[in-house]
Amino acid sequence: MQIIIYDNAEQVAQNAAQWVLSLLKDKPHPVLGLATGSTPIKLYNELVKHYKAKRTSFAHVTTFNLDEYYDISCDSPQSYRSFMQHHLFDHINIETANTFLPTCNKDQDPRKQGLDYEAYIKQAGGIDLQILGIGANGHIGFNEPTSSLRSRTRIKTLTQQTLLDNSRLFKSNELQPSLAMTMGIASIMDARYILLMATGKHKADAVMQMITQGVSSNCPASILQMHENAVILLDKDAASKLPDHAYYEWVNEQNQHLNEKFGLFHKF
Ligand code: GLP
Repeated sequence: MQIIIYDNAEQVAQNAAQWVLSLLKDKPHPVLGLATGSTPIKLYNELVKHYKAKRTSFAHVTTFNLDEYYDISCDSPQSYRSFMQHHLFDHINIETANTFLPTCNKDQDPRKQGLDYEAYIKQAGGIDLQILGIGANGHIGFNEPTSSLRSRTRIKTLTQQTLLDNSRLFKSNELQPSLAMTMGIASIMDARYILLMATGKHKADAVMQMITQGVSSNCPASILQMHENAVILLDKDAASKLPDHAYYEWVNEQNQHLNEKFGLFHKF
């Protein structure tokens, strides 16, 4: 894992955007894995800014989102489809047909919906760069603690903490689904590069567990220790319970020198 600590959430988003731009520049048909939640909103704002300034194009990009709520219509304001349209897709030149989210339709077999999603990802050639946030309980996507580390896209029951954390997005008269379809931990691990962003003090415990404790399904994000190309972008608050800040800084300085000398190490 490469751990990079920035002063604030804006810098995290700006640097995450550079990774996405670099993928879009390097690959003629890039495949991007996307996340929802408050954390990536700033990244999406950055990407829209770069697109509007004509610094990038999404014309040949395919996207796969991590998750979607059970039995929620696409046009419901709480659906992750609406979230993505609102924060990103409506403002860039992406083909809607190339933007995929898992389906979790109550009238269809969830196992088939999961398998179909895995097949779509495969057909697209796999995910080049997967954007991730992290739940306060260490979840990635909706892979809650105790999720199998080899899990694939499937229906999951959300924990009380996740329901509570996400309840701010639902009005009191709206039904908050307690089930969701999520890419599995193994599906996420198939991505060629992974970029996890975490900001704010409320993520400090989960971040500390992900980086400094053993790999465990109790903290699903800890599996990233086993990924060849996982980059963790943190603000100071999210990094506040990590030891060795000076070492991470030192590593990043060295990497910059190596990049200058030998070219970027993260060619997609
Ligand atoms: C949600 C999503 C995750 C996200 C996490 C953190 O439940 N399923 O993909 O990373 O919670 O969200 P936030 O960025 O709002 O803290």
